[in-house]
Amino acid sequence: MELINQPILVIGAGIMGSGITQVAAQAGHEVLLFDQKEGAAHQAIDKIQTLFASLIKKEKITAQAAQASISRIKVISSLAEAKDVSLVIEAILEKLDVKRALFQELEGVVDTNCILASNTSSISVTAIANGLQHPERLVGMHFFNPVPLMKLVEVVSGLQTSSDVGQAIFDLSLHWGKTPVHAKSTPGFIVNRIARPFYAEALAMSQEQMADIAVIDACIKSVGFKMGPFELMDLIGNDTNFSVTSSVYEAFFFDSRFRPSIVQKELVDGGLFGRKSGRGFYDYSDQAVNPPLPSFDASRLNLQDPIVLHGQGAIVSQWSEKFVKLDIPFTQNTQSDWIGLEVGKNQLRQTQGKTASSYGSHVALFDQILSTPNEHYLAWSISEHAFTTWQTQAPSWLAHLGYHPLRVKDMPGLIVARTIAMLINEAADTVNQGVCSREASNQAMRLGVNYPAGPFEWLDAWSSTGVLKILDGLDDHYRGERYRASPLLRQLTHSD
Ligand code: NAI
Repeated sequence: MELINQPILVIGAGIMGSGITQVAAQAGHEVLLFDQKEGAAHQAIDKIQTLFASLIKKEKITAQAAQASISRIKVISSLAEAKDVSLVIEAILEKLDVKRALFQELEGVVDTNCILASNTSSISVTAIANGLQHPERLVGMHFFNPVPLMKLVEVVSGLQTSSDVGQAIFDLSLHWGKTPVHAKSTPGFIVNRIARPFYAEALAMSQEQMADIAVIDACIKSVGFKMGPFELMDLIGNDTNFSVTSSVYEAFFFDSRFRPSIVQKELVDGGLFGRKSGRGFYDYSDQAVNPPLPSFDASRLNLQDPIVLHGQGAIVSQWSEKFVKLDIPFTQNTQSDWIGLEVGKNQLRQTQGKTASSYGSHVALFDQILSTPNEHYLAWSISEHAFTTWQTQAPSWLAHLGYHPLRVKDMPGLIVARTIAMLINEAADTVNQGVCSREASNQAMRLGVNYPAGPFEWLDAWSSTGVLKILDGLDDHYRGERYRASPLLRQLTHSD
């Protein structure tokens, strides 16, 4: 099934269809473009031309290449004109019956060898194919917005999609300079499913008054995410984000893991969609003053008590180097089952999924540290019965070690550990259920939503035992189904 250089029909000349048309024409295909709305296809070509003009200015493409690409695009006014194409890519509105009707109509036009691809972002590919004479030739080809810039393509196979068809779309995507990943048709496919906890956990933390949204965003960005969850929801649009969450939740038969948040619904109901409406979680008006992050002035460290560095690994090595540099005397307990510092009777431990208070009055906790950017906002919490001296000393230790400590309510898993553990957990379930491979989930999350690492890369750097402790801690605290660990994760702990 050779698709390279073959003529293509793109249906729907909106945001996605115009991007797909551009990429296909640039890859050398003759592209027929059809939109039922009068003038929409010509508008899309104008948009592509404007985009090319700016790329020529920036010397990213030549004027000749741009002209050649444009000349390969032809607007058609009836589907019958597309009878000789080898591939149809549909990017019309997201409604099952409309998509089904279109593909059924197309079967009467194109050759039986023609592949039919849908850019659906949420509808079951199996369901779209229902009723076709040749359901095996229908496949999902899920691009991300903006199509020319986003590398990922989820190649989604429904129950009846033939493996040759999936592979042909995979190969074509590669030829277009994209990074395709195979996915089984299940709700949210890969990216829109695995990403759900990124928003859901932030919303739950905010709802439970664990921390301000700016604190949550700052901590998440400190481990390499380009945007915090609240900034991102405001950018995507709370209406869109809420509707994706709701559709995944419904599609999974109301599994509480995917439950939408009333915090976000309230924003949607109030028209507070985010950037596009001027206000969402944050205020985007000209006069907006979004509250700054709390500042922290470190106290002098009390060095009278013996200092013991616990555990092993990258953080412990960094901290021990720092202590040497600062001339702080310490001993090490590398056999300890926790990471952090013991100062006299007090402890500053990395979270393992329990609250600080559950250890007693002497414990403060700090969040998972995944990387060391210049300005690292680090969430910490402390036992409700801790002495006031430890309440000022614990964050001062973090500050002297180079972090900007942000105090949050004493809840299990803090901010980063809880979020990343839940992302890993969802990825583990996705792989465990045969939706995609581990490598595909890593690529999908890196390229589809710009995560700094893939979920299985985080897992390799952390450990399944560590992730499981966070999940079990959350499960124990909240009860219910939401924090149940993936069976794959439990299996992996046996090989840790
Ligand atoms: P859009 O609203 O910008 O464009 C849709 C176009 O399809 C419109 O120009 C409309 O006139 C045309 N159209 C509607 N029904 C038609 C029909 N029966 N025959 C011919 N043309 C028809 O929508 P957008 O955002 O481009 O989305 C298109 C598809 O891509 C949807 O299935 C959507 O879920 C999916 N998608 C959207 C993404 C996004 O970020 N916007 C990302 C990935 C997938």
